[in-house]
Amino acid sequence: MNIKFKLIQYIIVTIMFMACTDNHNNNTITYSKTDPINKKVDSLIKIMTLKEKIGQMNQYNGFWDVTGPAPDNGDAEIKYEHLKNGLVGSMLSVRGTKAVRAVQKIAVEESRLGIPLIIGFDVIHGYKTLSPIPLAEAASWDLEAIEKSAQVAAAEASAAGINWTFAPMVDISRDPRWGRVMEGAGEDPFLGSKIAVARVKGFQGDDLSAVNTIAACAKHFAAYGFSEAGKEYNTVDIGNSTLHNTVLPPFKAAVEANVKTLMNAFNEYDGVPATGNEYLLRNILKDKWGFKGFVITDWASIKEMVIWGYAKDKRDAAKIAALAGSDMDMESHIYVSELEQLVKDGVIDEKIIDEAARRILTVKFELGLFDDPYRYCDETREKEVVNSPKHLDVVLDMAKKSIVLLKNENDLLPLKKQGQNIALIGALANEKNSPLGSWRIASKDNTGVSVLEGMQNYKDNNLIYKKGADITVGDTQFVNELTINTTDKSEFNEAIDVAKKADVVVMVLGEHGFQSGEARSRTDINLPGVQQELLEAIYKVNKNIVLVLNNGRPLSITWADKHIPAILETWQLGTQAGHAVAQVLYGDYNPSGKLPMTFPRNVGQIPIYYNHKNTGRPVRDAFNPELVFWSHYSDVENTPLYHFGHGLSYTTFKYENLALEKTVFGMDETINISVGITNTGKVTGKEVAQLYIRDLVASTTRPVKELKGFELIELQAGETKTVNFVLNKASLGFYNNQGDFIIEPGTFEIFIGGSSQTTLNTRFELE
Ligand code: NOJ
Repeated sequence: MNIKFKLIQYIIVTIMFMACTDNHNNNTITYSKTDPINKKVDSLIKIMTLKEKIGQMNQYNGFWDVTGPAPDNGDAEIKYEHLKNGLVGSMLSVRGTKAVRAVQKIAVEESRLGIPLIIGFDVIHGYKTLSPIPLAEAASWDLEAIEKSAQVAAAEASAAGINWTFAPMVDISRDPRWGRVMEGAGEDPFLGSKIAVARVKGFQGDDLSAVNTIAACAKHFAAYGFSEAGKEYNTVDIGNSTLHNTVLPPFKAAVEANVKTLMNAFNEYDGVPATGNEYLLRNILKDKWGFKGFVITDWASIKEMVIWGYAKDKRDAAKIAALAGSDMDMESHIYVSELEQLVKDGVIDEKIIDEAARRILTVKFELGLFDDPYRYCDETREKEVVNSPKHLDVVLDMAKKSIVLLKNENDLLPLKKQGQNIALIGALANEKNSPLGSWRIASKDNTGVSVLEGMQNYKDNNLIYKKGADITVGDTQFVNELTINTTDKSEFNEAIDVAKKADVVVMVLGEHGFQSGEARSRTDINLPGVQQELLEAIYKVNKNIVLVLNNGRPLSITWADKHIPAILETWQLGTQAGHAVAQVLYGDYNPSGKLPMTFPRNVGQIPIYYNHKNTGRPVRDAFNPELVFWSHYSDVENTPLYHFGHGLSYTTFKYENLALEKTVFGMDETINISVGITNTGKVTGKEVAQLYIRDLVASTTRPVKELKGFELIELQAGETKTVNFVLNKASLGFYNNQGDFIIEPGTFEIFIGGSSQTTLNTRFELE
C-alpha cells in the first residue's frame, strides 16, 4: 500500500510539475559567460535575497525511493511551492531524464532567479548496470579497475539526469557486525585512501563540466564506521589517535583529490553530533585541509540533534549545524524554516549563509548547470548509455578481480571442464536479485546473472542444481523480517541425494544482498538460517565441496574453514556476478583478490584487525607458560580466521631478496626498497605485493603493522620480477593527539609479502 501510494503521489506530482512550465520568469544575472566562476558566484550572491540563499542550502527528497525515515505525507505540495519560490537548492533521489527535467524546469523557469538544482543520488556501485559492492571492489586492490567502475556508474547516472553521487563511502570500519561495511573499502586507512581517490577520480573525471562526469561525495564525516558494537546509528567513542590516524586519512585523500562534497554522519564524535561538530567541519575540514566544496548533512541529521539531546529545538539545531559548517540540509526541512529568523535576530551572521550558498553555487557552476540546466536530461543519451552492453564488460572485469580465493586444498579448484558430475547447491546459487547487493536503488530487481546461469555456459559437465534450503523469509529491501531466517529443512534430502552422486559439489551460501547495507547490523555473523546445517549434511555424503560465499561483510565460517577443502569469497558481485564466479571456478580467470577486512573466528573477537597495537602483554610468558596474565581469550586463539590482505591464486608466489640500499636514512631521504617475486606455479597469475611498516618506538604507541604500499603485478609461470617500493616522510610519520603530522627518528621494521601475515622483513634507522 505504501509503495502504491508513493507511485500515485509521484505521478500526480510529475504531472503537476509538467503542467506548470509555461510561467517562464526571466531574470537578469549580471555576470558574463567568460567570467571566472568565483566572479560569477559573487555577482549572483549579490542579487540573491537572504531567503534565496538559504534556499540553496535546502535539499528535498523526490517523491519515491525513500532512503530514510519517510517524510510527512502531503509534503509534495510544500516542496513544489518551495521549488517555485527558489527555496530548494537540490533534490535527491529524483532520477531519469523526464523526472529530473520536470523538477529542474520548476527551479529554472518558475523561480525568480532560475538557479538550477543539483540532483543527488546514491550511486553506490552503479546506476543500472551494477559493479560489485564497494567492499568487494576493494578486495581487487586494483585502483585502475575501481576507477573505471566508478566511471561507468557516473556515465549511466549522468545520462539519467543525475549530477551528484553520495559516494564514495570512505568510512573505515573494523566491525563486520555493521551492515554498512559492504559500502566501504574495509579496515585499512592506506588502502581506503587509495580507493577513495580512485573512486573520486572515476566519478568526477578530469573535467566536472563534462556531461558524463558527476560530483562525488566522501561520506560520512566522520567516524560513522566506529559505531559501538556495530549497531547502526549508535554512538561512537574513539580517541584522538584513532580519529587522526585511522578515520580521517581517506577523507583527507578525497579532499586532496578535489572531491566536491562531503556528507556528515549520524553519529557523534566526542559527545558532539557530527552534523553540529565545528571541530570536524570547520577546524579540520574547511580550515586545516582547505576544503572548498560543500558539506551536506545526512538524512534529517539536523533534526536528529534534538533527539540526541544536543539541540533544544529546531531553531537551536539549525543554529548549531550552520555555525558548525553544515552547508546543505538533507531532508530536515529545518534550514528553510529557521535560518532566516536566526539571521534577522542576529544569532547567525549572514556571512555564514553567504559562505554556504557560495560553496554550493560554485559546484553548480563547475558542473555546467548554469550553462545548460538540462545538460543531463538528454533522453537519447539516456537510452544509449544506461544499460549499455559496453558497461557489462567493465563490471564483469571488476567482478572477477574482486573474488578472493580463501582456501584451496589439493587444488580442488579450478574445476575440470569436462566429464564431471557437478552438484550445485544453495539458495544463492539460483539467485538473480541477491548478487546485486544492497544500495542499488535504480537497478531492476532480478537482473543479476546467477551462479547457475554462469555455470551453465560450461556445457561439457553434467550440472544439477538443488536449492537445499532458503536463507530468508522476506524478499524486499524494506521488509525487516528479512533477517528472520527460515528454519525449513524439507528440501535437504533431495540436495543430499544429488551431492552423493557428484564428483564435486559447489555450494553457494551466505547472506542475501539485503542482509547488509544501511540499518542491517547483525550480532550473529555465522551463515544465516539453516545453511550451516545444510553444509554439514552435504559434507557427510561428499567431502569434495567448493564453498562459494556470497556476503556483504566478513562472516565467521570457522567450521567451513576446518572441513571444506575450497572456499571462494565472491561477495555480491553485481549484474555479471554469475559469469564472474563461473569463470573463476573453471580457471578461465585466476583469482587475485586479497581481503580488505579481517575475517574473525567468531563474533566475540570483534573488533579484530591487522593493524592493532602490541599491548604490554602480547604473548604468553615463555618462562611461566601456565600463567594466564597475557592479552588473550581463554576460549579462542588471538589470530583471526583470515588475515587482512590474504588471498590465494591458482599459482604460487615466492618472495625473496628483500633489499634496501642502506640501513640508515636521513629524515628527508627517499627510501627505496626492492623485492624479487617469482611465480612458482604452473599458470600465469596476478599477485598483490604488500609492504607494511612497524615504527618500533614512538611518542604514541604505533600499530604492529601498517600497510604503506602495494603493487599489483602479473607473472607468467616461472617468471621473476623485481618490485620496487618507496617510503618517505609521508609514509613514516603519524598524527599526534593534537592532530599534527609528525615524524620521529628511530628504528623501523618493514615487511613485504602476499598478506599482512608475511614475515619476510628487514629494518632501517631513521635519523
Ligand atoms: C542516509 C545514508 O546514511 C546516506 O549514506 C545516504 O546517502 C542518504 N541516506 C541518502 O539516501
